[in-house]
Amino acid sequence: MRIFITGHKGQLGKVLRTSLVAEGHTLLGGDLPEWEMTDAEQVMESLQVFSPDVVIHSAALTNVDYCAENPEEAVRINGVGTYNVALACREVDALLVAISTNEVFDGRAKRPYQEYDQCNPVNPYGYSKYVAEQVVERLAPRYMIVRTAWLYASGGVNFIHKIIARARSGSRLRVVTDEVSSPTYVNDLAAALLDLLEVGRPGIYHLTNAGECSRYHFAQEILRLIGLDVSIEPISLDDFVRPSMPPAYAPLANVFGAAAGIELRPWQEALAEYVAQYEAQ
Ligand SMILES: NC(=O)c1ccc[n+]([C@@H]2O[C@H](COP(=O)([O-])OP(=O)(O)OC[C@H]3O[C@@H](n4cnc5c(N)ncnc54)[C@H](OP(=O)(O)O)[C@@H]3O)[C@@H](O)[C@H]2O)c1
Repeated sequence: MRIFITGHKGQLGKVLRTSLVAEGHTLLGGDLPEWEMTDAEQVMESLQVFSPDVVIHSAALTNVDYCAENPEEAVRINGVGTYNVALACREVDALLVAISTNEVFDGRAKRPYQEYDQCNPVNPYGYSKYVAEQVVERLAPRYMIVRTAWLYASGGVNFIHKIIARARSGSRLRVVTDEVSSPTYVNDLAAALLDLLEVGRPGIYHLTNAGECSRYHFAQEILRLIGLDVSIEPISLDDFVRPSMPPAYAPLANVFGAAAGIELRPWQEALAEYVAQYEAQ
């Protein structure tokens, strides 16, 4: 297939590129600074010229604190940018696979959120991604919305690297116990997205590594895997003041992906593989 990836230089985009090329697909990517999704003409022209069968829309302003401080810009980029992508997909009749987030939910549920539960974002990043979802549902000719959570990938700096570095440097570790979701290894998400493309059924999907944990439990598991006996001070979200307040309890239940035979392994298994590779570097 001919596949256009927006945000191909990001955490997910990079891994997707490698996996899709390995499967023999023809790819083109768009990302900053050469390709700007808020530029409607550029987005339309790039898709008209490449004429993709599928657009995987991974580009987003993902800095949640920046979004909280600049809510209008968050909607302009994540909302209007996605509108441009959806309109271009309509023009070239491409399937739009839009990557979204557990932060479209309010985090007040008593069980993991299912695909068609009511969205009610509680911060500007979540709101901007909710706008993006609405645009996709209303404008794309065919679409999949794939929500995920707590992504980590090789390279760059993520929660795992920060916990390991702080523990090794003897710095104080304080981690929240009341933010709960599912850490997700980008390689596992990319493999599941490829399976989803094979199945080809439109709709909303929840793809995260299976199971759930608090940030505190996640940090404890990271330290256990690297064999560091360092204590972590449990704190609550109210103790950890930052511009963007995440939804507290927002794991995602995979009902529709599982019905199509697509399930990701437990988060502990994926994390163990990732940490082993990280430590071997
Ligand atoms: N990371 C997570 O934990 C997480 C969790 C749930 C859902 N998601 C969603 O998953 C998707 C991929 O996330 P990720 O972690 O791979 O994000 P990422 O590493 O931040 O990658 C996003 C890419 O989009 C680019 N981008 C930003 N604004 C753009 C614009 N106006 N025009 C064109 N490209 C633009 C970014 O460029 P710059 O780096 O130069 O800004 C970056 O290369 C996103 O849609 C995100 O909302 C992420």
